[in-house]
Amino acid sequence: MKHNTAWNKKDNSNEWLKAALRKKYLPTRPVVLDLFCGHGRMYELAYKEKAAGYHGVDNKKIHDPAICTLTNNVVFIAHNDITKYNVFDLDDYGTPWKQLYMICGKHPGPGEITLFVTDGLVMHQKSNQKVTKFVSATEQIPQQMKINGINRFYVDIFATMLLDIERRYGWKTTKARYSHNSRRSVYYWVLKLKKYMKTTER
Ligand SMILES: C[S@@+](CC[C@H](N)C(=O)[O-])C[C@H]1O[C@@H](n2cnc3c(N)ncnc32)[C@H](O)[C@@H]1O
Repeated sequence: MKHNTAWNKKDNSNEWLKAALRKKYLPTRPVVLDLFCGHGRMYELAYKEKAAGYHGVDNKKIHDPAICTLTNNVVFIAHNDITKYNVFDLDDYGTPWKQLYMICGKHPGPGEITLFVTDGLVMHQKSNQKVTKFVSATEQIPQQMKINGINRFYVDIFATMLLDIERRYGWKTTKARYSHNSRRSVYYWVLKLKKYMKTTER
């Protein structure tokens, strides 16, 4: 994805808000796959004391080699067993929809998973007024079409994506809560997804 210099690349803008969301919505026995772990602020603030298991992944920096892997998270998801985790942390600078789809496509269920997603889709769409490849597919909008004011429908666009995940993989959203930064350009989601029947692992 092309970088826009306007993006706020500070690792943990709103870190207390993000940590509070995580602490509030962790399941009873959290086993966490922290796919954008960075220097481990969320690990320190939310997971270190509460998680029954933890693994961090980052392609640039990790906070503890004993519990983290330095690699691209897309590669990690593709090549590792993710069924032992029930919490997935997607604290991206961008829009981690690819990782979200990969997790839901690969995890056969059954059971409940919790996902913490930092989504900068609004910021991305503001910068070029075009929809992403994913939104183009879920909303059936041509990718080159510029749509003024599309970000007013951001929450609906996100909801359509969750329905698409349910239709494709059987993961039903049972809880979706969000908060955002002061400019409403980055959203912090908590998602609880349930699958009642195991499907074949992809
Ligand atoms: C917002 S920071 C994460 C901060 C972290 N959650 C914490 O609590 O300290 C985003 C991180 O994602 C990493 N990153 C971006 N794309 C990645 C990818 N495809 N695979 C793995 N890490 C990635 C960056 O290196 C950066 O450390």
